[in-house]
Amino acid sequence: MFPKDVYRQRRNSLRAMMDEGILLFPGNEESAMNYRDNTYHYRQDSSFLYFFGINKPGFYGWCDVDSGEDRIYGDDFGIDDIIWMGGQPSVKELSAEVAVDHTGPVKALKEALRTALQSGRRVHILPPYRGDHIVTLSALMDVDCTRVRDQVSEELIRAVVKLRAAKDKYEIGEIEKALEVAGQMHTTAMKMAFPGNYERDLAGTIEGIALASGGPVSFPVILSMDGQIMHNHSHHQELVQGRIVVCDAGAETPMCYASDITRSYPVGGKFNLQQKEIYEIVLEANVKTMEASRPGITYKEIHLMAARIIAGGLKALGLMKGDVDEAVEAGAHALFFPHGLGHMMGLDVHDMEGLGENYVGYDDRVKRSKQFGLAYLRMGRELEPGFVVTNEPGCYFIPELIDIWKGEKRLEQFINYDRLNAYRKFGGIRIEDDVLITAGGSRVLGTPIPKTVQEVEATMGS
Ligand code: GLY
Repeated sequence: MFPKDVYRQRRNSLRAMMDEGILLFPGNEESAMNYRDNTYHYRQDSSFLYFFGINKPGFYGWCDVDSGEDRIYGDDFGIDDIIWMGGQPSVKELSAEVAVDHTGPVKALKEALRTALQSGRRVHILPPYRGDHIVTLSALMDVDCTRVRDQVSEELIRAVVKLRAAKDKYEIGEIEKALEVAGQMHTTAMKMAFPGNYERDLAGTIEGIALASGGPVSFPVILSMDGQIMHNHSHHQELVQGRIVVCDAGAETPMCYASDITRSYPVGGKFNLQQKEIYEIVLEANVKTMEASRPGITYKEIHLMAARIIAGGLKALGLMKGDVDEAVEAGAHALFFPHGLGHMMGLDVHDMEGLGENYVGYDDRVKRSKQFGLAYLRMGRELEPGFVVTNEPGCYFIPELIDIWKGEKRLEQFINYDRLNAYRKFGGIRIEDDVLITAGGSRVLGTPIPKTVQEVEATMGS
């Protein structure tokens, strides 16, 4: 855990942003996989972790905006728990580590909430994203399950997003630890990307590196020669010379901070000319947009800069045509770069996405576009110091999408459809780093992971 004053300060800052009422943070419970005691990996709720720090199931956090009192509700282990799971510090001891003095058993929470609600006090909750939260909140707040979402507090969402968006030095330190593990994962996978190995050999090995480093992966490993499928979780193919592996993977630290890195490399260790040409375009988009990222500029502008670099590069190769700015304005680049440049990262790999993507990534000044491609941009708002964002441009050749657009002659003034036949088996390339927005600009977090053509080939050859 971080020093206990960090948690106290966070709760006090949150309170200061709220008008009145009680802020209720249910922690996550264990989640059964195929029967009750055979559970998925336990993952605490990120907002609970942020304000109350305890990384264990069975806890509820309570902040009283009006009285300034914080509480943690949870049950001490009984002898049956101790026999099967070992002992753990008492609720009082755990709560003291995050500067909370007032504790109680879970059954006391229901009574405390009833008293608060009966006296007309507002109980603020964040959007529940697990079925069991809905059932629990329904019982606790005495509302039907179908009406629990009506209780969600926009005021609380906005306050939590404001606080969690700017990372402090402790959080940056954790993210950098997660990046050290990601570095090992990616260089290991690169060195294994040779014919004869299967995608699953690489995926399984790097997941093991994350586990052996103390945390799980921060999201299911994306690793495939079919990199044109953005989130490809199927790893069954044997690696074939001449194809490209896209590996998008990261680790989570024991304190649940994420890393999220993508590298793309040729099976066998040497880029062919076609791969190198596309790779250099994506690399330029990655480097130039990172260099341009700074407080005051919107992430939408940075995304569109990546789009222009990719469109310009594809025009130079003869795959696109016409005026680059007009092509990007019309959304023609999205045939090749259909996703957003990145997203916030922190305790969640898509940080705070459970609170609502538009609260996190957009505001009154920057609204989400409806245009194909741009609509997938998870964050368009102005960058601020302390934000950690991923920077992940990509270029893909998605045969199904090309066929639809070509059939419709869509934006044919900007796309040389006939030239795309030579790329049908290309797959895709994505290059991703994690970037901290600083007061004066930005910096790539973590120890550099091989990224240029020369660095990747040297790593694979070593
Ligand atoms: N790295 C996976 C994602 O951003 O969705």
